[in-house]
Amino acid sequence: MDYFTIEGGVALKGSIKVNGAKNATLPMLAACLLTKEKVILRNVPNVADVYTMCSLLESLGATVKHDKKAKTLEIQASNINNYLAHYDIVSKMRASIWVLAPLLSQYKEAKVSLPGGCAIGARKVDLHICVLKDMSADISIDHGYILAKTQQLVAIDFDFPIVSVGATITAILAATLSQGITRLNNCATEPEIQDLCKMLNQMGAKISNIGSNYLVIEGVTELSGVDYIIMPDRIEAGSYIIACAITKGTIELTNATDLPSMHNIIYKLAKTGLNITHKDNIISVDASNSKLLATDLQTMVYPGFPTDLQPQFTSLMTLANGTSCITENIFDNRFMAVPELCRMGADIQINNNSVVVKGVDTLCGANVTSSDLRGSMSLVIAALAAQDETIVKRIYHIDRGYENLEQNLTSLGAKIIRRKS
Ligand code: EPZ
Repeated sequence: MDYFTIEGGVALKGSIKVNGAKNATLPMLAACLLTKEKVILRNVPNVADVYTMCSLLESLGATVKHDKKAKTLEIQASNINNYLAHYDIVSKMRASIWVLAPLLSQYKEAKVSLPGGCAIGARKVDLHICVLKDMSADISIDHGYILAKTQQLVAIDFDFPIVSVGATITAILAATLSQGITRLNNCATEPEIQDLCKMLNQMGAKISNIGSNYLVIEGVTELSGVDYIIMPDRIEAGSYIIACAITKGTIELTNATDLPSMHNIIYKLAKTGLNITHKDNIISVDASNSKLLATDLQTMVYPGFPTDLQPQFTSLMTLANGTSCITENIFDNRFMAVPELCRMGADIQINNNSVVVKGVDTLCGANVTSSDLRGSMSLVIAALAAQDETIVKRIYHIDRGYENLEQNLTSLGAKIIRRKS
């Protein structure tokens, strides 16, 4: 199993390119099942979750051509001959649930494993099922699988009782080829969902009010292929900004085009004392002369501060001047890296869904173990600022969502090496 050794204390300096957004790519790959024509996706991040989704599509009968160097995927789902998403894949990656709606609307049946719990919380899929049942799918649960059939999905008016990224995506994917006009209220509005809707509209879907929490989708009878460039990854960008801040570095992130979606993140990070500018497609961060200020944080659905940057922000606050209170409002167990940070000398108390972080003068290197994607990144961030060597184990979690992390950090001057045990 791979692990990182990190020698902390180097101020990051230089320029790196932001990759395509993992959380936009995954639902777009599921959307490829909605057409028999070829879909070309560009700016695809080379991360393990994308490879897993491609394997799932191939297992269903799709043809997948992946040019990793060019960051391009060509998908053709003209010969789908299997409607099963097996437990082995779905348990590895919950985003697999997104093949349920396209299989159902195109092929009228699907068998998709229930994802079960996951490290960051219970993460139910009841809303995904509820939406599809309302659209006239016949759904039962059998031996851990969702068994779904339909004659034809029909349009609905649906008011989400809670805001869910995943269930909003399922509803969008189901509604595009359904009969009639679907109205979805209290939708999630994350930029990755907006990007998915733009792609679907270029394929011939009729989705209006993109970006609002009230989507109106007029069902069409078929979708065409598309050639689409995926948006930049705002969570990856935010993670590098935080890494720069904790090391008191100066970095530039390029390819950060079209990122009004970064405004909430930049606003909050600037409050910690960072000097950040975002012009055209470049985000410039200068933390070299700034004093790191303790700043409270609440995670919220978009346009609030994203839960996917909370663990990294918590790491940053361990070295801030003063005490900060960080509240996690989306998932019930997203402080898993905190005990590991405390082993590095951080002073953090967990109180239900909040942590109180008292800034300390220094962190020290230690052996730490990752347990989820963003928590792993928070450990790497702490290690970059810690004295002496840190060993971060189980970094396969990081490979799910950060492309070439160690190469990028090395190019910014960090002393990080990937090793095999
Ligand atoms: C997506 O997960 C992202 N995953 C997550 O990113 C992200 O943390 C999350 O949205 C919130 O922004 C991908 O895009 C692949 P939700 P998702 O449905 O769709 C509850 C990362 O690190 N809920 O918005 O699973 C659920 O339990 C990942 O890149 C139900 O109760 O998130 C949670 O408390 C991790 N019933 C809340 O809603 C349901 O049917 C929000 O979950 C669905 C969700």
